[in-house]
Amino acid sequence: MSRALRTEAGAIGIETLGMTMRFGEFTALDDVSITVPAGSFHALLGENGAGKSTLVKCIMGFYRATAGELLVAGQEARMTDPRVAQALGLGMVYQHFTLVPSLTAAENLVISRADAPAVIDWRRERARLAAFMETMPFKVPLEQPVSRLAAGEKQKLEILKQLYLGNRFLILDEPTSVLTPDEADEVLGHVRGLTEAGEITVLMITHKFREVTAFADAVSILRRGRHVGGGKVGEISVEEMSRAMMGKAPEVSKRARAGTERREVMRLRGVRAQDRTGLKSIEIEDVALNSGEILGIAGISGNGQMELMEVLTGQRRTMGGEITVKGAPFGATRAEARTHRMRYLPEEPLRNACAPRMSVAENLAFRIFDEGRNGKPAFWKNDRAIARNATTLIEGFKVKTASPAARIASLSGGNVQRAVLGRELTGEVDALIVSNPCFGLDFAAVSTIRDRLMAARNAGTAILLISEDLDEIMELSDRILVMSEGQIAFETPVETADIGEIGRHMAGHGE
Ligand SMILES: Nc1ncnc2c1ncn2[C@@H]1O[C@H](COP(=O)(O)OP(=O)(O)OP(=O)(O)O)[C@@H](O)[C@H]1O
Ligand SMILES: [Mg+2]
Repeated sequence: MSRALRTEAGAIGIETLGMTMRFGEFTALDDVSITVPAGSFHALLGENGAGKSTLVKCIMGFYRATAGELLVAGQEARMTDPRVAQALGLGMVYQHFTLVPSLTAAENLVISRADAPAVIDWRRERARLAAFMETMPFKVPLEQPVSRLAAGEKQKLEILKQLYLGNRFLILDEPTSVLTPDEADEVLGHVRGLTEAGEITVLMITHKFREVTAFADAVSILRRGRHVGGGKVGEISVEEMSRAMMGKAPEVSKRARAGTERREVMRLRGVRAQDRTGLKSIEIEDVALNSGEILGIAGISGNGQMELMEVLTGQRRTMGGEITVKGAPFGATRAEARTHRMRYLPEEPLRNACAPRMSVAENLAFRIFDEGRNGKPAFWKNDRAIARNATTLIEGFKVKTASPAARIASLSGGNVQRAVLGRELTGEVDALIVSNPCFGLDFAAVSTIRDRLMAARNAGTAILLISEDLDEIMELSDRILVMSEGQIAFETPVETADIGEIGRHMAGHGE
């Protein structure tokens, strides 16, 4: 068999022929043909809504393509069901982890097998796992609960799990978005090694050009559902890639920081709350957020940032301490947030800030629907205002949607993010609390969103920016705090900030 179809070590190549996917009138994928030879590392690029996830869902059998064929190791495969993909050795690693946090790595691997027996003979399974691990080029601690592993370890474990399941063609959907840059390089380095050894073939969705040029062999680019370009890495420049993605040369944004008057908008003193596990707590000693500044909170995911966000949005009870807004006690109710003109962009906005079954227009109207004239509550829905508001925000934030009446859950991940941020940034906003606002966005959208945040800051909004992306924190913040083990471990103004020092505090060994 030729190398393109299957390597000696077992990696499988795939090919799509004229893959097409329609959702009603809307064509999400239009006649896409790509070839991913066995043992290669292929990148898939495209703006938010370009059709990347749709393409891989068709390959994996989560969607039944409207038209087109899939060849797996040269044979036509009928992807009627995700189990077919598994049986053929196709596997997928998602952006978010799918491991069970309270189980150990070993337990996670064993239970993930479709043929896992009802009663597990752990002695035998451990021996089997140990033998498997011997053949792997990298290791993960097997006997600790997954919740104790760092993000990079978890992502490595997700990949090991696929290999353990016998999958030889892996789709990685933005695998590094939850990793630090060092972790990302390490994980992708291992993936690269496995493709070079002919153990696996990889198709990776990413928004990061650096990952494409540093690790991939070839790239395919989608725009509006069409395959618009690609080629061998090294033969295609970053400029050509971004032009193919957007249909035009990328704009370079100049983001000016304007000096504004600083007033204290929000203050947290001795605020304590339980963390997700209920075993530990977070404690914020004294943090003030001022108007016209971006206060960045850096930290590795899982160090209490999520809990802090929940406290500020009224989704988690505090066990002590005090939050004040403009000097008055603040209990994070919806009414208070409205009075103080506070807005939020939580993580995973589809789950935490949307009504998934409602339309895009309705979701965009959450801030206005019960507001009548002069901002007083109205007791009926103003359909015309809702439509006008939707059109403005869809245009202003370039939300790609079939129509304002489409369900928000049908939008691509990046477009949900844009829609929610558009909604939260509209009107006069005194304080904005955001968590990983650019997670999963394409680079053009990242640039737009960061421009908007800076513009809001320059207009006097106080912004609390919780982010795992250190580049983002450095780019936008006026002051930087580091959160570690539920506490603020470090503070520095951006002018004198040192990345290495921040990194050490993030990792929990500052002094
Ligand atoms: N189940 C669905 N019903 C209707 N439309 C859909 C559905 N799934 C996807 N779409 C539409 O198809 C288009 C492509 O979506 P897809 O999720 O493939 O984009 P993507 O390239 O993965 O984007 P992102 O980078 O934001 O994740 C989008 O316009 C989206 O609204
Ligand atoms: Mg996607």
